[in-house]
Amino acid sequence: MSSTASGAAKPTVTVTLDGTNRSTTLPLLSGSIGPQTVDIRKLYGDLGIFTFDPGYGATASCESKITYIDGDAGVLLYRGYPIEQLAEKSDFIEVAYLLLEGELPNAAQLEAFRKGITNHTMVHEQLRRFFDGFRRDAHPMAILCGVVGALAAFYHDNLDINDARQREIAAYRLIAKVPTIAAWAYKYSIGQPFMYPRNDLSYAENFLYMLNAVPAEPWKANPILSRAMDRILVLHADHEQNASTSTVRLAGSTGANPFACIAAGIAALWGPAHGGANEAVLKMLTEIGKPENIPAFIREVKDKNSHTKLMGFGHRVYKNFDPRAKIMKDTCHEVLGELGIKDEPLLDMAMEMERIALTDDYFISRKLYPNVDFYSGIILKAMGIPTHMFTVLFAVARTTGWVSQWKELIEDPSQRIGRPRQIYSGAVQRDYTSVDRRG
Ligand code: ACO
Repeated sequence: MSSTASGAAKPTVTVTLDGTNRSTTLPLLSGSIGPQTVDIRKLYGDLGIFTFDPGYGATASCESKITYIDGDAGVLLYRGYPIEQLAEKSDFIEVAYLLLEGELPNAAQLEAFRKGITNHTMVHEQLRRFFDGFRRDAHPMAILCGVVGALAAFYHDNLDINDARQREIAAYRLIAKVPTIAAWAYKYSIGQPFMYPRNDLSYAENFLYMLNAVPAEPWKANPILSRAMDRILVLHADHEQNASTSTVRLAGSTGANPFACIAAGIAALWGPAHGGANEAVLKMLTEIGKPENIPAFIREVKDKNSHTKLMGFGHRVYKNFDPRAKIMKDTCHEVLGELGIKDEPLLDMAMEMERIALTDDYFISRKLYPNVDFYSGIILKAMGIPTHMFTVLFAVARTTGWVSQWKELIEDPSQRIGRPRQIYSGAVQRDYTSVDRRG
């Protein structure tokens, strides 16, 4: 097979099947920024061939206006706005509005949105009983996945995905209720009473309140920690077509209800190669134990036969640096300063690890840089959040992105059920043999 791109007014790519006179001309599509993309939709019809791209490294699965990443330049934009500006000047609720609606809100829109989310933070009282069904030592991601999926059983009034108003209510409910469910999953695991949401607090403050407060004592928000939590939520809010978002879109393409789709996203996020990485970073640092052990660990990482990865390093898209990691590193120092933590061995080890990795040819040649998870785990640990809650926190933030991407999918007239193809390499057709005739 050979292909040639033409530079005419409407650019195309012509694909020719080598050794035949069969060829087809495919449109070359352009977004507002980013690489051109060959529209291969008629390839199979014209030439009877599929494309092969396991891991989807070169495949655009949809058209989206939400988030843009330039992995080589270390750029992340939400609706065109650089993540650095949003992290510094905005807050999570405003960012959630931006992702969902496409534009920054004016003052009235922002107030209405803030109020709308705040008014949905409580969950149906009967939903509390779901928690009792879980073992006390259940991983909170297992609880989150199950309880978020169960929301569909409680909110029948907004399951019609073809009704824009119902879609909006479902989006508000998910953004508002996931922190409550996440905090309750934690409270359940440590045997403390569930704290009901407080609508006088900001989104990040309320989440910290539900995680940390107890009925027996007054609770006071710490502005530095609330700001750090808000920033973590902003940095994790969306990341275009990553594994969990693609899972949400794939589930959504079947017409499944939004609660089921977000539960699917939570399941995909759980894996250590994705949202579970910040938990894995802490586990790795704890296992290494002391700085003297780092060189031996790095040797192990570089050994092809060991299958050990430097967790928190590397990214499918960022091949220069992860812009979120830079902001996270600064936030990490702010939080440790506020909490008076001068000597945090895990942070010292993380910095040493970063120094070694950034000067080691193995990592340089493979373009492996610290990703957002490398520092977030240390911040969360310093804030007193247990390791098994890290991915849950990520899910709380990413719910906004998932919901925005799900909404965009449903509103896209060109959307069809997602149904990848395959290269089949199994047995060709053969006849069944009875068990007594098998060797
Ligand atoms: N440590 C050591 N080597 C690595 C690492 C790492 N963290 N990441 C990639 N490599 C190596 C691979 O072994 C491979 O080497 P090779 O060419 O000699 O075979 C090369 O770098 C390319 O790696 P790929 O696996 O092709 O990269 P891919 O894009 O498929 O994977 C991923 C990206 C999954 C993030 C990977 O870098 C990884 O597992 N990192 C650690 C886990 C992690 O931090 N995940 C968080 C991602 S960010 C997020 O989800 C928010």
